[in-house]
Amino acid sequence: MSDQKKRNPEDGGGSVDPEAASDESLQEVHASLMRKREEKSEGFPIMPIMIVFFFSALMLVGGIYMANFGGRFDPMVFDETKGPLAAPDEEDPEELDVVALGSRVYQQNCQACHQADGQGVPGAFPPLVETEWVTGSEERLVRVVLHGLQGPIEVRGEEYSGVMAPFGHLSDQNVAAVLTYIRQEWGNDASEVSEETVAEIRREVGSRGAWTAEELEPYTD
Ligand code: HEC
Repeated sequence: MSDQKKRNPEDGGGSVDPEAASDESLQEVHASLMRKREEKSEGFPIMPIMIVFFFSALMLVGGIYMANFGGRFDPMVFDETKGPLAAPDEEDPEELDVVALGSRVYQQNCQACHQADGQGVPGAFPPLVETEWVTGSEERLVRVVLHGLQGPIEVRGEEYSGVMAPFGHLSDQNVAAVLTYIRQEWGNDASEVSEETVAEIRREVGSRGAWTAEELEPYTD
């Protein structure tokens, strides 16, 4: 009671109805309970909203990434080493510009060592221009690229003894295209390499380590 009087000093103290006062105090208690509950529940929706924002942002960024780098899954742009996606069926491989595809595969996989002009780096990476390895036997060339090459080899009268990594992870189409490209670029003038030839040799040889020049001797013609 004395509590209530303290809270309503304007009433002059005497006019306080004890019942009203107790109602008021009940209401106040309830109000404070409600307030507490509201405060609690206020904290909850924030998290789900943040999660929704987070995933929206993620999808936005992912969408922008796909738009910029997806290349509409064009086989000219598409890189099968990046994921289990297939090239679109409606593209007839015969219609594809093999030289353009080969050039792209070359830039991405070979150029770092054999250089843009195909001349390699003296003493380290052999040239691809005017060499029997490139313009000669397809059988040997496909094997070099599918499985790699190591140990001493001779290219244009110079000896190299390095290691070339295998490129078996490239598709038959990409291997055929890059080999056709190097056989016909920089003044080279040899026949193109077909996808079927690459597929056949891949099947025939299976998986194995890098070849040596000696092991490739039977495939030189
Ligand atoms: C990391 C460097 C590197 C990359 C990348 C590379 N090569 Fe080579 N390549 C070499 C080396 C080193 C040799 C010599 C290997 C040896 O001494 O036995 C070689 C040898 C060759 C040869 C036989 C020799 C010659 O010069 O004609 C061919 C053909 C060839 N590479 C083609 C390719 C093609 C095609 C690609 C891309 C698909 C490629 N290389 C990517 C380093 C590389």
